[in-house]
Amino acid sequence: MAAGRGHFGSRLGFVLAAAGSAVGIGNIWKFPYMTGQNGGAAFLVLYLALTFTIGLSVMLAEFAIGSAAQRNPVGAFARLKGGLWPVVGALGLLAGFVILSFYGVVAGWTIAYVVKALTGALSSNDPEQLGGIFGEFISSPIEPVAYQALFMALTVGVVLGGVHDGIERWCKVLMPALFILLLVLIVRSLTLPGAEEGIAFYLKPDFSLVTAETFNGALAQAFFSLSLGMGAMITYGSYVRKEENLATSAIWVTGLDATVAILAGLLIMPAVFAFGFNPAEGPGLSFVTLPAVFSSMPFGEVFAALFFLLLSIAALTSAVSLLEVVVAYFVDERGFGRKKAATLFGFLIFLVGVPSSLSLGVWSDFTIAGKGFLDLMDFVATNLLLPLGGFFIALFVGWVIYPRAIEEVTNRGEIAFPAARLWGFVLRFVAPIAIAWILISGL
Ligand code: TRP
Repeated sequence: MAAGRGHFGSRLGFVLAAAGSAVGIGNIWKFPYMTGQNGGAAFLVLYLALTFTIGLSVMLAEFAIGSAAQRNPVGAFARLKGGLWPVVGALGLLAGFVILSFYGVVAGWTIAYVVKALTGALSSNDPEQLGGIFGEFISSPIEPVAYQALFMALTVGVVLGGVHDGIERWCKVLMPALFILLLVLIVRSLTLPGAEEGIAFYLKPDFSLVTAETFNGALAQAFFSLSLGMGAMITYGSYVRKEENLATSAIWVTGLDATVAILAGLLIMPAVFAFGFNPAEGPGLSFVTLPAVFSSMPFGEVFAALFFLLLSIAALTSAVSLLEVVVAYFVDERGFGRKKAATLFGFLIFLVGVPSSLSLGVWSDFTIAGKGFLDLMDFVATNLLLPLGGFFIALFVGWVIYPRAIEEVTNRGEIAFPAARLWGFVLRFVAPIAIAWILISGL
């Protein structure tokens, strides 16, 4: 065990940190609108099936790699096999850098919206007017960048504290806060008159709307939502104590992530239907439709502020894991101090994110392959780098280090792992084939 590498203090701390990584804007902002656009429950069922087969298997694979190597993603592949494999880790680092650059932009919006809700700037029940407010805000050159800077500073602040005193400590406070906020908001939403219609839409599957594209969307969403494919879970797995039960932890993290996604839909869909808005609204669902919904009910500003606070918290614990991957590499392999690595790379990632923010306003004319900078970054990372990373991670654990990985999962034979054969089968065949198909059809 490398001297000076941090460790999670407890099983709970590890599970909450990993769940903090997984539960993010992807669950609360993206999942409900994707469900809305893809026929409701049909998408939900598909998403859950993929999450608990391929997603869960790849998460356990990442934990096993990290736990076996006790290293950042690049160092982990180098230690366990070497050859060209560390390139997979390097691609992961790149993905983390890119994802955090635009993630910080959207996360900044969520903080801005807490402030706007509290100051009454969102008090309108006209989606068109709120759409105007949102459009004006995200296209302004200064305000969103300032909030992005604030969010990145918070992220750096948590990572500076280290694995135990920073990440674990904050996740142990923020994750329970997130669950409580979520439950409060769901109770509010489900008790609105007319909520049933939204629940029916959300929970009744219409498989006629499932196309190959739905499949793609569901798998990409599962990967992004579970923080898979770039080594975030390798990095967190490298901080667990050897006696940890990795399989149980992976089930917990996957279960919590899926639960929050489902609950986010239960929060949003009834409210949207109760006030007669369009569930297929797309990305505007959280920032445009929901404020309108909130404005139409008593104490709406408070509920709106709580909702965006929920999003900010979810975003922060996710961003922390993205920055930690980069920091772990420079600490493990390049001899950086944690403080220097966190501050320097937090700042660089912020700078790379600025064009993403500006691409929605003053730089909107600048496009590559028809996409603005933010969309391009999102596409390259989410649709290319993550599936590619997941593909190689599955192959690596399934074919290259499988016996070693089984040792890690069973703690050298001390705990039973009845799903070993199934896990191997999914990693060797199901996951690589499914991912390859998605990558190819996605291009
Ligand atoms: N899972 C987070 C979300 O749903 C985002 C995230 C954090 C992520 N770390 C990641 C995505 C690593 C992919 C890889 O918002």
